[in-house]
Amino acid sequence: MISIHLIAAARPNFMKVAPLFHALNKTDWARPLLVHTGQHYDHNMSDAILQDLKVPAPEFHLGVGSGSHAEQTGSVMIEYEKICVEHRPDWIVVVGDVNSTAACAMVGAKLWIPVVHLEAGLRSGDRRMPEEINRLVTDAIVDVLWTPSEDADENLVGEGVPAEKIDRIGNIMIDSFEMLRDTIEAANTQEQLGLTPGNYALVTLHRPSNVDAAEALAPIVDALVDASQRLPIVFVAHPRTIKGLSKFKLESRLTESANVTLLEPLPYVQFMNLVTGAKVVITDSGGLQEETTYLGIPCLTLRENTERPITVSIGTNKLIDASILAENLTAILDGNWPSGQRPPLWDGKTADRAVAALKQRSGL
Ligand code: UD1
Repeated sequence: MISIHLIAAARPNFMKVAPLFHALNKTDWARPLLVHTGQHYDHNMSDAILQDLKVPAPEFHLGVGSGSHAEQTGSVMIEYEKICVEHRPDWIVVVGDVNSTAACAMVGAKLWIPVVHLEAGLRSGDRRMPEEINRLVTDAIVDVLWTPSEDADENLVGEGVPAEKIDRIGNIMIDSFEMLRDTIEAANTQEQLGLTPGNYALVTLHRPSNVDAAEALAPIVDALVDASQRLPIVFVAHPRTIKGLSKFKLESRLTESANVTLLEPLPYVQFMNLVTGAKVVITDSGGLQEETTYLGIPCLTLRENTERPITVSIGTNKLIDASILAENLTAILDGNWPSGQRPPLWDGKTADRAVAALKQRSGL
């Protein structure tokens, strides 16, 4: 049996490691061990999501918590190195682009433990984003790069990554959705909130560029309040956003609007139930740009760039700023929006391709 550490740190990582965990667990040659770095620790940002995804409690929990980028990255390296020295795994799989991704990749690379990056090759081209730095660092040092789409392969080859290190396996987050589709569709979150399917906007925000400064957040809040006069709005706010709304005294503008429901983070199944019924999703999340393209739901992304351009070129996504939210909402309400296509290999079978690739690379 070969042992494989699956690193999970923050909310968007859990839906990427879960399908791989389950697929590896079914084999007779691999033993997946979940390592939770503790970057996200609130119940609904972490444990509740793992429970929804039927993943057992992590084998190792590093408990690093919040901090500056250097503190978080450094603490993960210090704690994870100890685990690797004591329980040397045969492979480490890091996912996504959070601080823990780069930190654990560095630990593995320096201990000569082979590292795979799941969701490699994504590039926004914007080095002001901490996630872009994490992507660049991780992809430069790992041994195997698992990509979701052709544009990611092209980015890597353009940066000098040898083609033989790249396996295009598809988008694993779609596997989580397909695994739980029936449960998601049967959940009553929309009903509980008094929402009519196909008649509300779902909003999430958490990027520092949108929520850490009043000059950025206030116009977004105003545009949302304005939009709520045409369509009920459900705003599921990240802890970082809740802090921003409160610090800049913007919370009451939302809570005093009759057509806005402001909620704390939700577990995966409840949240995805809201996504499936939305007329439009307004977000700055990476994962939601992909999930909406997969589901054919219009997505308005409040960012200047995206590391997931395929969601714009063939999907349902559009990059906007708050000043043009209203006109885009009109287009969506009038039915003037592309229905989009699902990118190749976004099919719910990515974990199986990942397992096959790992088996081959392990010489089994
Ligand atoms: C992190 C990732 C980002 C990812 C996002 C998804 C990095 C650099 N950023 O950003 O790529 O898209 O997660 O959610 O790794 N907090 C809580 N409870 C929690 C987690 C965080 O209250 O469970 C608070 C923290 O104290 C902090 C804020 O939320 O003040 C931000 O958390 P942090 O992990 O630093 O970054 P995210 O914005 O979540």
